[in-house]
Amino acid sequence: MIQNKKNLKQKKASLEVVKPIKTKPYNDIDLNNWKLYENIKTGTWWEFPAREKKNGHSYDYHGNYIPQIATQLIERYTKQNDIILDLFFGSGTTGIEAKNQNRRCIGVELKQEMVDYVAQKFNPKELVVDVNIIQGDSASIDIKEKIKARLEIMGRQNAQLLVLHPPYDDIIKFSNMKEDLSNCATTEEFYDLFQKVAKNGYDLLEQNRFAALIIGDKYANSRYISLGFECQKRMEELGFITKAVIVKNITGNEKAKGKTANLWRYRALNGGFNIFEHEYIMIFQKTKLKKVKK
Ligand SMILES: C[S@@+](CC[C@H](N)C(=O)[O-])C[C@H]1O[C@@H](n2cnc3c(N)ncnc32)[C@H](O)[C@@H]1O
Repeated sequence: MIQNKKNLKQKKASLEVVKPIKTKPYNDIDLNNWKLYENIKTGTWWEFPAREKKNGHSYDYHGNYIPQIATQLIERYTKQNDIILDLFFGSGTTGIEAKNQNRRCIGVELKQEMVDYVAQKFNPKELVVDVNIIQGDSASIDIKEKIKARLEIMGRQNAQLLVLHPPYDDIIKFSNMKEDLSNCATTEEFYDLFQKVAKNGYDLLEQNRFAALIIGDKYANSRYISLGFECQKRMEELGFITKAVIVKNITGNEKAKGKTANLWRYRALNGGFNIFEHEYIMIFQKTKLKKVKK
């Protein structure tokens, strides 16, 4: 009898310790154990000492983002098996990281040679089941139907996370193609094309899910051009709400600027401007606007 009572007490105590898993509809983070997720960044200043070069990642494309950005976004804003839609797929960083975290991905890239190159990073089965790559213009109307067809094959109607890492206007020329956002005649045209891509993404994204825009600013004709904030405005015009504007330190993550560092410093001192050390990671949600108190 006494033994039974003791067992019951022990059982009760163990039941009190094991809390049920509590997650949001858009990720697998167990909020009842939130202290365990020390790796997840929740601040607005991101700094990574070095670029991740393991787990399938390499610095093989000038202009690819550091894989840790994808790692953070995927863990924070997707559940296992969810589909991430990347409309500027480049060297496929998002696809590699999606696979590493047991998520799936659809990537659209304009340059056929990049599509062929990135396809080699996955085996034939993965290219059907996990990472679908489409060659095409993400600003076009017909791309939406192509993506929808892939979503259907993968058993979903919508994507669960949208990733947008466009060219930063003409800072890096990615090709000579007229559809390439790095080839726009004016920055205004760049914004318009960007918005067309973002609109396609918005339409394909599941309600209440998130989008991430990774972008930097530029200088032209001796003045600062805020690509990031104009693109943020364009996202909001589509119906997205801004959830976060994160500033990421890019020093040490870029190709070595050692040789030209002094030249840039001279130019900065001479021209009254400052040298870029950051880019933005902006987080948006496709959700109904809450009424703002006036
Ligand atoms: C900044 S890079 C993206 C890099 C990528 N996040 C990675 O980690 O490799 C931008 C990419 O967008 C592509 N691009 C430019 N205009 C495009 C368009 N209209 N549709 C699809 N891709 C486009 C470029 O060819 C380039 O590869």
